[in-house]
Amino acid sequence: MKIAVIGTGYVGLVTGTCLAETGNEVVCVDIDASKVEKMRQGIVPIYEPHLDLLFERNIKANRLSFTTSLEEGLEHGDIIFLALPTPEDEDGSADLSYVLGVSEEIGKKIKQYKVIVDKSTVPVGTSEKVHAVIAENAICEFDVVSNPEFLREGFAVDDFLKPERIVVGSSSDRATELMQKLYRPFVRSGNPIIVMDEKSAELTKYAANSFLATKITFMNEIANYCEKVGADVDKVRVGMGTDSRIGKRFLFPGIGYGGSCFPKDVKALQKAGKEEDYDFKILNAVIDVNQKQKTILLPKMDDYFGDLSGKKIAVWGLAFKPETDDIREAPSIDMMNGLLEKGASLSVFDPEAMPNIKRKFGEKLSYADSMYAALKDADALLICTEWSIFRTPDLNKIKDLLKSPVIFDGRNLYNVNDLQSEGFTYISIGRNE
Ligand code: UGA
Repeated sequence: MKIAVIGTGYVGLVTGTCLAETGNEVVCVDIDASKVEKMRQGIVPIYEPHLDLLFERNIKANRLSFTTSLEEGLEHGDIIFLALPTPEDEDGSADLSYVLGVSEEIGKKIKQYKVIVDKSTVPVGTSEKVHAVIAENAICEFDVVSNPEFLREGFAVDDFLKPERIVVGSSSDRATELMQKLYRPFVRSGNPIIVMDEKSAELTKYAANSFLATKITFMNEIANYCEKVGADVDKVRVGMGTDSRIGKRFLFPGIGYGGSCFPKDVKALQKAGKEEDYDFKILNAVIDVNQKQKTILLPKMDDYFGDLSGKKIAVWGLAFKPETDDIREAPSIDMMNGLLEKGASLSVFDPEAMPNIKRKFGEKLSYADSMYAALKDADALLICTEWSIFRTPDLNKIKDLLKSPVIFDGRNLYNVNDLQSEGFTYISIGRNE
């Protein structure tokens, strides 16, 4: 099938590349000429495991190409994916100016039937707005479909190629059939393509992300309470998670959720509720608890040192989660700002996110070449992201390099007894210490 993807951010690129992988001819459109030029040379502009391999092979096979011309994309695609940014407005709502701006152009330019697919995370009612904006100028038939994505950064390729479900919001049989044909190769295992109305599809995305953020936040509160009463959240987590109604996943406590999705989507749903005079009390609490959770280790560090001023802290993990260079809303940022305010100096390391953190913090931090180099003469180690390479470190080396063997762990990477028997002071989240 012939596909156009408008917007080559993280969602657009993964969508375009993975759709090319199943034999579709995909043209990706972006207004950024230098980015388009780089992509034409096979350079993937984001860090996402396995994407480079698929990218290269589909460009070579002439199934994946790039242009700055919206017209060219619209001419080519029978299905037009909108993968445009919906940034958070100052008031927390989603800014639709990119989506509606491009929709207006689509209305002016299409000459024959097209399916316009909204992949961006957009508030309920957006597909109606997109439809209305296109209809103002369109001289041919078209349908608008809502098709939210459920990709996790770091696993996006796998999530796209083997989705647990595809949600299609469509009220046109013609468009639904085309979408089913497009996605059938991805659900051969029998996973469902769930067809519903557009509004329900739009809300499904917000509800799913907000539920997951709530699940994590609930566990964070249980972890905080465990500390008060001397229980161990690891045991509570396993005890709860083995109930299939609860499930084992997304129950890991830590220093809060971050990223470009959960924080933005929870706030947008909260705001959308307010507009309908509906107060999402749960979401209010989730936002509040998560904000506090991001710096939950700060008072513990304060207590331990008495005074953090002049202390050197090594920080492992800066990205909001492993397998990404994304630092948006990363808990590490709140922790580091808190430590800097208290007069500590920081020596930091992350396998992928160092350039992004450097752009944000500049000279305020010292950037180590390796995880161990960060430790040299530091008073303690702070872990903010659970990258695999931090999971089984050389404990003797850590002891040798740190001034004293102290670890504050925001991701509960190690066994408490193991670390204590090695002589470490080990302070983590919600466990017996
Ligand atoms: C999330 C959803 O998982 C995807 O399904 C969705 O498509 C995506 O948002 C999106 O809307 O685009 P992502 O933000 O990439 O994906 O990352 P997750 O793996 O979901 O992690 C989000 C945050 O929750 C991270 O900060 C992570 O550290 C935290 N988390 C996750 C926990 O603190 N505990 C857990 O048990 C799981």
